[in-house]
Amino acid sequence: MAYLKSGDVVGLPTETVYGLAGNAYSKKSVNKIYKLKKRPKKNPLIIHYYNIEKVKKDVVINSTFLKLYKKFCPGPITFILKKKPSTKVVSIKKKKLKTIAVRFPNHKVCRSILKIIDFPLAMPSANLSSNVSPVNAENVADEFQKKIKIIINGGKSKVGIESTVIDLTGKPKILRPGIISSEILEKFLKIKINAVKKDSKVRSPGMFKRHYSPGIPMFLNQHKYNKDHAFITFGKIFRNNKNCFNLSKNSNLREAASNLYGTFRKIKKLKFKKIYVVKIPNKGIGIAINDRLKRASY
Ligand code: TXA
Ligand code: MG
Repeated sequence: MAYLKSGDVVGLPTETVYGLAGNAYSKKSVNKIYKLKKRPKKNPLIIHYYNIEKVKKDVVINSTFLKLYKKFCPGPITFILKKKPSTKVVSIKKKKLKTIAVRFPNHKVCRSILKIIDFPLAMPSANLSSNVSPVNAENVADEFQKKIKIIINGGKSKVGIESTVIDLTGKPKILRPGIISSEILEKFLKIKINAVKKDSKVRSPGMFKRHYSPGIPMFLNQHKYNKDHAFITFGKIFRNNKNCFNLSKNSNLREAASNLYGTFRKIKKLKFKKIYVVKIPNKGIGIAINDRLKRASY
């Protein structure tokens, strides 16, 4: 706690992926996060809170947010909301952003910290910019070596991919798909939600084309592989062998999402030169998985 308060950064578990956390009200912390991640300054950070009471100081609450908060929080969803002029959240962009991304992570350890501190946590995924997000404490250590002094081990991140990002400053828009899918959100809000079009102005820089990359050429929608390639599969038709890495034998998309980044890292450690990936159904959580695969293969 003292560590965070003094402006230092800490590796923390969340239910989605591990984060690199710092005091969102401290310029020193926020600068440190950008520097460690080698993150472009134009890519803003998600600010993490314990609950809605604590967020009210920093953003303007609206009715859609309230509905979604009651239903899904704490949980793997991030809301883009208008920021209050009085907020102390550090904004790093030269042209100041008028919005803040806020999230209420659902992980015991993370929540116990958020509950007792009197500032929110700026917390991007704990990886070097454009690398694969970490899903356990060891992954974080691999990314930053000795550059961060404290990483809290909270076990494997259950969700395994980053939160859904939804822009609520106007008509709701999904900026980054996640396990809370647009299908679920549409059903719940009883409205049609559009994903941001590929060619529109980049709204969420996590939408940069190349991202989440294991650093190995990756080919999607493949049916066959060669003995020198790693083959990422889905469903029971593929047996595991030294080349095949099955994301979910039961064709369960949630399970596949939770295994995705661990599989990338495993394949990288084994020094495969190419990764082939079978076609993954493009509905529900499959949309989020395909989004990450596409960026990883770019
Ligand atoms: O699951 C998660 O969201 C994880 C865990 C650690 O909470 N965090 C995470 O943070 O994925 P990061 O920094 O890796 O991704 C944040 C995404 C980026 O795509 C960023 O551009 C977008 O959120 N974002 C942040 N602030 C924004 C804003 N004001 N408007 C639009 N997009 C924003
Ligand atoms: Mg990230």
